Amino acid sequence: MILVVGATGQLGGLIAHRLLERGEPVRILTRAGSSFDALAAPGAQTVTGDLKDRGSLEEACSGVGAVITTANSAARGGEDNVETVDRGGNRNLVEAAARAGVRRFVFTSALGADPDSPVPFLRAKGETEALVRGSGMAWTVLSPNVFMDVWVPAVVGGPALAGQPVTLVGSASRRHSFVAVPDVVAYAVTAVERPEAEGQTLVIGGAAPVSWREVVAEFEVQLDRELPVRTVEAGAPVPGLPEMMSQLLAAQDTYDSPIDMTGLAAAYGVPPTPLSDFVRGFLAANPRPAP
Ligand SMILES: NC(=O)c1ccc[n+]([C@@H]2O[C@H](COP(=O)([O-])OP(=O)(O)OC[C@H]3O[C@@H](n4cnc5c(N)ncnc54)[C@H](OP(=O)(O)O)[C@@H]3O)[C@@H](O)[C@H]2O)c1
Repeated sequence: MILVVGATGQLGGLIAHRLLERGEPVRILTRAGSSFDALAAPGAQTVTGDLKDRGSLEEACSGVGAVITTANSAARGGEDNVETVDRGGNRNLVEAAARAGVRRFVFTSALGADPDSPVPFLRAKGETEALVRGSGMAWTVLSPNVFMDVWVPAVVGGPALAGQPVTLVGSASRRHSFVAVPDVVAYAVTAVERPEAEGQTLVIGGAAPVSWREVVAEFEVQLDRELPVRTVEAGAPVPGLPEMMSQLLAAQDTYDSPIDMTGLAAAYGVPPTPLSDFVRGFLAANPRPAP
């Protein structure tokens, strides 16, 4: 039995679906108000619980061979925050899994996670990575770069289709190896069954590093028109984006994060999704306004 924690979210939901398609027995942790019908229907066992509730996690981990967790507080709020979910909640889960005798534990972290990071979210991820590595379970840490599926529509695709100017922060010329969520799904479901993934941190990026200006250029090629672009200083709000994303865009303008995926992609049989394919899929899935 594989317990997926975070299966009501984007990445965790796709991981649970893929495991079910492969015929794996899957249990998902759900909370009151979570949306999980689409997963429960094809056969996922559901268990009610919350990362903030240690007791619920012991029950969730009972009889489980592997845990994959993607849960995080970034898109939540209120009582679900970095301290209660990404730090305390993850600690609760790692400890409950180890106590329940879970053998495999796959933790979704993020590139840049570091127990000494000045960014609380990345600090919590780094602390959890350390806990997972010292838990006694056979662990794998997934360390993906920024998700195309979250960021590219928010920064460029959405405004472009809405006929609004794209807002870039700073120079927007730093290059990042954006990764498509389905690629991360493929690494997660492969890692959980491969002995060679045990004790490994998988740093996951896309096909090639690209800058925000290059993302705009890709949309211009595929839309066959120029996009109006405005630039704001680092720290200024970006219209339509939550403050956290504006801040992260400013941070992205201070470093490059290329990731050479040649070796990992070949070893795991996961060809990295190029930005052009992602943009093509995004435009096909979203109606274009009349010119
Ligand atoms: N976005 C990026 O660019 C990026 C980059 C690198 C790494 N990552 C990592 O990749 C993962 C992203 O997963 P995702 O896109 O699937 O996230 P998501 O869509 O925001 O889903 C969040 C999940 O966490 C669960 N959760 C939140 N608080 C919880 C709690 N107290 N107890 C139990 N579950 C709780 C949610 O459950 P409910 O539905 O019940 O709230 C939901 O299933 C995260 O770990 C993130 O840090 C993201």
